[in-house]
Amino acid sequence: MKTSLSFILFFLLTISIDSIIVDATCWEHPNPIKPFEKKISSICGLQKKTKDKLKAEVGKESQKDEVHSLAANEAFKFDFSCGVPDKALCTKAENAFKSAGEIIANVINLVTPVTVNATFTDFCKALNECDGSILGAASAARSIPLLDDDKVVRQYPQALAKQFLLDPTPQWGPFDIQAFFNAQADLFFKGDGVIKKNQFDFEYIILHELIHGLGFASAWNNYFSEQPVALTPDPNFLEMITELSQPVKFTGFEENAFDKYMVNTRVKGTPKRMTEFTNEINSFAEIGTDFPSVQALLNAFGDSRQFQTSSQLILDGQTPKTMAFQPRNASLNDLVFLETNLKPFRIGSSISHMDIKTFDNDPDFLEVFNAKPGQTLDQVLKATGGKAPIGPKLKSVLETLGYATNENPNPYRPTLPSDSQVTPSQIPIWKSTNNQSSSATSLTSSFNVLSLFVIVAFTLSF
Ligand SMILES: *[C@@H]1O[C@H](CO)[C@@H](O)[C@H](O)[C@H]1NC(C)=O
Ligand SMILES: *[C@@H]1O[C@H](CO)[C@@H](O)[C@H](O)[C@H]1NC(C)=O
Ligand SMILES: *[C@@H]1O[C@H](CO)[C@@H](O)[C@H](O)[C@H]1NC(C)=O
Ligand SMILES: [Zn+2]
Repeated sequence: MKTSLSFILFFLLTISIDSIIVDATCWEHPNPIKPFEKKISSICGLQKKTKDKLKAEVGKESQKDEVHSLAANEAFKFDFSCGVPDKALCTKAENAFKSAGEIIANVINLVTPVTVNATFTDFCKALNECDGSILGAASAARSIPLLDDDKVVRQYPQALAKQFLLDPTPQWGPFDIQAFFNAQADLFFKGDGVIKKNQFDFEYIILHELIHGLGFASAWNNYFSEQPVALTPDPNFLEMITELSQPVKFTGFEENAFDKYMVNTRVKGTPKRMTEFTNEINSFAEIGTDFPSVQALLNAFGDSRQFQTSSQLILDGQTPKTMAFQPRNASLNDLVFLETNLKPFRIGSSISHMDIKTFDNDPDFLEVFNAKPGQTLDQVLKATGGKAPIGPKLKSVLETLGYATNENPNPYRPTLPSDSQVTPSQIPIWKSTNNQSSSATSLTSSFNVLSLFVIVAFTLSF
């Protein structure tokens, strides 16, 4: 182990010391069912190297050890808490985790183990989620801001950031993924014999949720109202706020790693990167503007020309085939359409899933928003003609995000941002060409910005 000094970075710290992330924040997501508990990491710095240490390492560059990927059974570490008294059920659930971890690790080559805080519990008792519709929920336990090659800093899930072997190493949180599974659901486990009509294959549910935790998660969401009114990336600037009357500094809506590859296909044949929309929306006020209150910020946003953009996007988010993930090297024929069929927009199900109409009966069924009752994972595979639970398109999404596979051993890697790279001026100011009447919608913030991605039990027919 290298000895190194560590620096603690506080929210919006703007000092300039080499190799410290400036103006960037790591986020903790301790509970995917109660996402309003999302909070700023108390530590989000880099292990800073001393100058001597750096000099000593210069000569060693060439003899760096080759990195080997982990064996499938060592790639995931589950810290499993079983909240039900039935020991046999707990054992079956734990085995399903191991098996799901191996399925993923056989497709992507992990060099750093992925740690999962997995809880199997009665959602009604533990979380007051009693309608039984949510089978599982997961999110990245911590996200780390990294600089992409388009000069935008995005939040990367810790599980992915760890694979990049960044140097110096960021300070990691204890877990990469937080996951909850509903022990009240009627679950099927391997070895149970024949699946019953209303049972859900637990391994399938775990796989689906782990993929969210690995980064199949957009920051584009409906954050400001119960009704779908405005689609924006994550308004992280509201995160420490508890009252609409509090003053707030606008630091910009923030994207996730996933969003770098998202495109809007409203205009057929000419997909537009969602990041362009982020830039538009972020130009409603100058980055760094102090607002006297959250309500003043929301009013200004609601009255802005840019708000029209987010209002149109929330409509797109409810219109089939208007949003897609474009894998690296993929042509326009190979877009992975995302879930924009749900109307009204459903937080946790819309966007951060694959389009159910396209993929429900396709080898890439795994990341559609609802689970399939009465079919085991093997039966679904057989029915869809799939070869493995992670279908070819899902695999290309993971490769694009930065996971290595046998076929793509050297994926794209973002870098650590440094103060000189992260400046608000890099956010292009979007100039409006025509003035539209301002919107009458008054925005509120419910302060429970959702960042969970769930798999649900009900089925919809289209
Ligand atoms: C792990 O999850 C449990 C919920 O089951 C939570 O209470 C605990 O704080 C989590 N641990 C960490 C380190 O986040
Ligand atoms: C995209 O193409 C480049 C160059 O041909 C290749 O190196 C890279 O592995 C490809 N990426 C993916 C995800 O297929
Ligand atoms: C838009 O509105 C601004 C301020 O209200 C005004 O200065 C500008 O001339 C208007 N532009 C157009 C194209 O109408
Ligand atoms: Zn999901």
